[in-house]
Amino acid sequence: MKVLITAGPTREPIDPARYLTNRSSGKMGYALAEAAQKRGHSVLLISGPTSLDIPEGVDFIPIESADDLYQAVKSQIGRMDIAIFAAAVADYTPVTVADQKIKKSGDELTLTLTLKKTKDVLGAAREVMGFKGTLVGFAAETENVEENARGKCTRKGCDLIIANDVSRKDIGFDSSENEVTLVYTDRSEALPQNSKKHLAYNLVEVIEQL
Ligand code: CTP
Repeated sequence: MKVLITAGPTREPIDPARYLTNRSSGKMGYALAEAAQKRGHSVLLISGPTSLDIPEGVDFIPIESADDLYQAVKSQIGRMDIAIFAAAVADYTPVTVADQKIKKSGDELTLTLTLKKTKDVLGAAREVMGFKGTLVGFAAETENVEENARGKCTRKGCDLIIANDVSRKDIGFDSSENEVTLVYTDRSEALPQNSKKHLAYNLVEVIEQL
């Protein structure tokens, strides 16, 4: 099958030298890309900047901002059977980007950054982009994990949301380990903690069945 995977953080520019980003390492998305490729699928990885090597045999589109990600997904998703959205997309981006680098002056700086909502790429997959294949999202939660993830699953037209509890320091962001709950519209299933690489194979098997 043809599989699209988004991964990593996005960068939202403030001025030519600076940006807003988040703690995503890209490890989960890259592990999914590697697992899907090894299981015989044709994989396209669309990723924000990470320090990871691109898995062998995987097609790759680099992106920086949430808007870059939106455009790349929009142009590619039509030919896909499965789309897995593991990227940690910025929810907001600066309304204006300074043309010149913001210079330092006094001992304190008061900076007002006005941000606007980014486009929800996963949320646009069904209705805006017309995607008919299997759609899988991630949810980073700190409370009411299952309930919040189920809301996202229904709202965004997903077949499955892979939910993780980001309040735990030992798993998730930046870690090589993860513990996730599979949340469907009508049921859920907790998987035991495991390495992201091992978990990725299990997740690809589950998604194939969908
Ligand atoms: N996502 C996306 N485009 C965005 C924001 C999120 O594609 N602009 C995707 C992510 O890749 C992930 C899922 O949507 O698969 C996460 O949904 P989101 O509603 O952003 O949830 P959280 O990141 O968990 O944040 P919040 O609870 O604040 O909504």
